[in-house]
Amino acid sequence: MKITYYGHSCFAIEVKDKTLLFDPFITPNELAKSIDIKSIKADYIFISHGHEDHIADAISIALNTKALVVANWEIHTWLNNKGISNTHPMNIGGNKTFDFGKIKLTNAVHSSGLPDGSYGGNPMGFIIETTEGNLYYSGDTALHLDMKLISEWTTLNWAILPIGDNFTMGVDDAINASTFIKCDNIIGVHYDTFPYIAIDKKQAVDKFLKSGKKLVLMNIGETIDL
Ligand code: NI
Ligand code: MN
Repeated sequence: MKITYYGHSCFAIEVKDKTLLFDPFITPNELAKSIDIKSIKADYIFISHGHEDHIADAISIALNTKALVVANWEIHTWLNNKGISNTHPMNIGGNKTFDFGKIKLTNAVHSSGLPDGSYGGNPMGFIIETTEGNLYYSGDTALHLDMKLISEWTTLNWAILPIGDNFTMGVDDAINASTFIKCDNIIGVHYDTFPYIAIDKKQAVDKFLKSGKKLVLMNIGETIDL
């Protein structure tokens, strides 16, 4: 399994010859100017919630790639109305097996309005279970006790958590989340994109280390094996 980071909370997972793209927000991201969205491959696009910084490039990448877009009911309907018909609606608590593995949708404590003011349903996180490993991407969220349920459902190899504070968990709560989900390998996202969420990266990595955990902060465009 591989992960490629495209900045902010956008990343792609390659598993079983399939590419799963999450929360595409690239062209408006000043830090991700090196990424050409036309070069991005995707078989699936997963949208955690309706905010601009998670959906900005979803329509253009869906058109380029013909990927199946998986999102909550409200975002699925919104995309259908925008001409994107290859969508699959899910909602929190639901499981669905695809050709790469199984997705389960989790609670996220956040909001989800769409860029044009449409109602975006509830924000969500994703558990991705595959024969090459199990991941949790929390989406934008506060720390919440429901995270403790995740280790009853699966054993995680990696988790992708926001660490930028202000709109989501910050570093200290992400460390607590790591304990709640019983996964010490964390990839940090949702930081430094805007002044509101600027962080001290070295301090963040050191705090995780002091807690006996690993925080990986990827370069934009970088790919690593998980
Ligand atoms: Ni958000
Ligand atoms: Mn966000």
